[in-house]
Amino acid sequence: MTETIAPRSKQLKLPPLNLGKHTIDVPVVLAPMAGVTNKAFRRLCREYGGGLYVTEMVTARSLVERRPESLRIIEHDSDEAIRSIQIYGVDAVNVGKAVRMVVEEDRADHIDLNFGCPVPKVTKLGGGSALPWKTDLFTAIVETAVKEASRNDIPLTIKMRKGIDEDHLTFIESAKIARDAGVAGIALHGRTLEQRYSGHADWNAIADLREAIPDVPILGNGDIFSAEDAISMVEQTGVDGIVVGRGCQGRPWLFGDLQNAFEGSEERFRPGVSEVADMIYRHAELLVETFGDEAKGLREIRKHVAWYFHGYPVGGQLRSKMATVPDLASFREYLAELDHSIGYPGAPVEGPRGRAGSPKKPHLPQGWLDSRVLGDAERLGLAGAELDVSGG
Ligand SMILES: Cc1cc2nc3c(=O)[nH]c(=O)nc-3n(C[C@H](O)[C@H](O)[C@H](O)COP(=O)(O)O)c2cc1C
Repeated sequence: MTETIAPRSKQLKLPPLNLGKHTIDVPVVLAPMAGVTNKAFRRLCREYGGGLYVTEMVTARSLVERRPESLRIIEHDSDEAIRSIQIYGVDAVNVGKAVRMVVEEDRADHIDLNFGCPVPKVTKLGGGSALPWKTDLFTAIVETAVKEASRNDIPLTIKMRKGIDEDHLTFIESAKIARDAGVAGIALHGRTLEQRYSGHADWNAIADLREAIPDVPILGNGDIFSAEDAISMVEQTGVDGIVVGRGCQGRPWLFGDLQNAFEGSEERFRPGVSEVADMIYRHAELLVETFGDEAKGLREIRKHVAWYFHGYPVGGQLRSKMATVPDLASFREYLAELDHSIGYPGAPVEGPRGRAGSPKKPHLPQGWLDSRVLGDAERLGLAGAELDVSGG
């Protein structure tokens, strides 16, 4: 069901987003989310609205080693117009090799590099969002990646956080390095590593970045949970586009709202229980297709149950059954038990969702903050920061 909201005093029509040779009509990017933004979820989101839909991240090393799971992650449906992938790596050689492989084998049309991961086991070795602090390493990775991508005119973008903490901000400096290296766009998640997913994203920092880097497309990320948030972000920061993560978890229709908003329309999707049930069942079917395995597909849908029904009056017992659903037939039965007459609940469905938590003192290698240049021992330690990683 759609509804027309009260007209805003100001209408916003944002021009298409240009990332290198690509023009993205609706300047909206689905944030890469490990374990979420696979082919199945991207398809659902795409069916609602335009934009750029990025894969989950893969590590450079796993790509170079051609691990089957990594090759699966960077696969796209044949109708994904711009095949966008995200790579995470901690050294220029491996990142360069991974980008070269993707480009030579024509596996993507756009590559994003992830410099935002806050996971302690990664940052304590100097990887993820700890990495941009070492400007020599950051420069080498970005320059190499851009060079390799440019062999086939593939635009390369970066995604990062503000810095390690408020006393160790890196984003303006990193953005200048990236601009000079020739990136096609820069996305900033307005939080520090220390904040992880807590508190609020700092949109002022995004505005500062916009001002400091007027000549490269800037994408604002953090705390966009509705089309109205997206409009506010653009109005407050002047960004060229927005990146949406947790806000679309369990709400692929948000991309419809975002497209409407950016086209100046006041139409918004307001699904009732019945529509949500249809959508999550379809999501499950697509996951089964994506993984080629019913049990695996159903294991994957379980975490989405809480997101889809967040704010809908659904009993605890039914929720727990759905959260352990073994197969499609059972899922269909459980969904039939829902009260399909319940409409859109309004406010309870809206607002923040997904990961939050509290700030944590960053885990960094001993003495990491003492120098902006990577030491030999630190270089050795970094190798482990690419093993077994998932998420940003
Ligand atoms: C479950 C989950 C997985 C994520 N995985 C990645 C990832 O693989 N790469 C990345 O750059 N960021 C990752 N992120 C961070 C998001 O892309 C985004 O920057 C962050 O959630 C802030 O945006 P939001 O407020 O719209 O959620 C992840 C976030 C979540 C919640």
